[in-house]
Amino acid sequence: MSVQSSMPEGLMAIDGAARGPAAAPPEHPQTPAFVVDEPLLDALRSSFQHAMAAHWPSSILAYSFKTNALPWLLAYFRHRGAWAEVASDTEYELAVALDFPPDRIVFNGPAKRRDRLRSALIEGSIVNLDAKREVTWAAELARERPELDVRVGVRVNWDLASLVPGELISEDDVARFGFSLVNGEFDAAVAELREAGVRVAGLHMHNSTRSKSVEVYRAAARTAADVVSTRGLTPDWIDMGGGFFGGVDATPTFDDYFAVIREELERAVDPERTTLIVEPGGCLVAPPFEYHATVIDVKDVGQTRFVVIDGSRTDTDPLFRRTRPYELRVASASARVLPVQKVVGATLTELDRVTTLHDERELRVGDRLTFSKLGAYTLPLRGLFIDYLPNVYVRDADGALTQVRRKWGAQEFLQANLWSDGDGSLRGPAQDPTSASPERPADASAMLAPPTPVRKPRRRTRAGRDTRGADVA
Ligand SMILES: Cc1ncc(COP(=O)(O)O)c(C=O)c1O
Repeated sequence: MSVQSSMPEGLMAIDGAARGPAAAPPEHPQTPAFVVDEPLLDALRSSFQHAMAAHWPSSILAYSFKTNALPWLLAYFRHRGAWAEVASDTEYELAVALDFPPDRIVFNGPAKRRDRLRSALIEGSIVNLDAKREVTWAAELARERPELDVRVGVRVNWDLASLVPGELISEDDVARFGFSLVNGEFDAAVAELREAGVRVAGLHMHNSTRSKSVEVYRAAARTAADVVSTRGLTPDWIDMGGGFFGGVDATPTFDDYFAVIREELERAVDPERTTLIVEPGGCLVAPPFEYHATVIDVKDVGQTRFVVIDGSRTDTDPLFRRTRPYELRVASASARVLPVQKVVGATLTELDRVTTLHDERELRVGDRLTFSKLGAYTLPLRGLFIDYLPNVYVRDADGALTQVRRKWGAQEFLQANLWSDGDGSLRGPAQDPTSASPERPADASAMLAPPTPVRKPRRRTRAGRDTRGADVA
């Protein structure tokens, strides 16, 4: 485990205030909370965009919503030129709700609904097909509306397991997404689309891998180039998906990935004509997200010291299967070092064991823990077990915190629910006075309508300026 401990001054460093004598007093998030380090996010995002543009003139960063769909983060990416990469109808609707225009949405996923697929195609989204019914529906649309330029991408199921052995994350070494190049399903899909007048305008090559090595991208790009040449395609886009490794001083660098992609793809496509799409998630958003928690109880059972925090493993490791150690800072004023302290979470299950500290300063009630690099596949996978979604803050370059999500409470949990009033009727959350009778489900659906928009909160700055509505470049 990588643990940094410190005396109370270290606590100030956690909150970004230990920046010299002129620094303003520290601001502490109300724990448990995620804290986004915005300057770090800026650094990663801009270095990714620079590497991409340096190697491919026409390129698109489509941020992977599923990695972390915190609304603040999605809007952050939109304001900085990124597109949305969505993997379901619901994520598509989320992108539209956050003002991504349809023609700046990359629509992936194996379970698109017919209506959403059709509207996305008509409105100019980049749509990568991943199911046979989607092929049928796209063909149907092209036949019905011959005046439309119906163009689609096709997700390619390529043989990663033999090209770069040991990389697939599936238990059986078989990738499930896309149309198989090996057994002819890819060619059958292309034939059906072409016959109906659909233009096969893109290839989608994503695979999640164990090592995120450059060799995976070399194999993917080489395969894409082969498919383009052998099938006589003139693609508008090649989508290399996500799965990149990233972080400050990380290797491979973003530059390494794009150099390899360029080298392989330009054998078959013209970088001036074909757009390169990439769908990064974790490499941009894992490092800037910290998780802050406070010690609320310390107890001994036999020889075991338990340190209970107000946070939970449901936030730090929502699938409860992490084996990698955390990067963790603890702030303790104690001079005493204990050989073992078991940090356990606030939920009422024995399984909520967050981590074990070895040879660490003794933690006491009120001490704080800060876990680093927890922005990927944590917030979206967290369930609503016992306690609900925690606070989220953004920390700016001056160390000032702005809250961008309030902790969910009972009201947020109750939203979109109906329950019996006891007199045969159904009622909903307190703020929605409408009630619906169980015999009239249409009324119930009205209650499940999306909430009305709320005013944008004021963003407080050190100088007390109101930056509401301002897009930060
Ligand atoms: C199609 C697609 N694109 C992008 C991503 C984002 O991957 P990562 O967060 O590893 O960059 C994924 C993740 O599985 C994916 O399935």
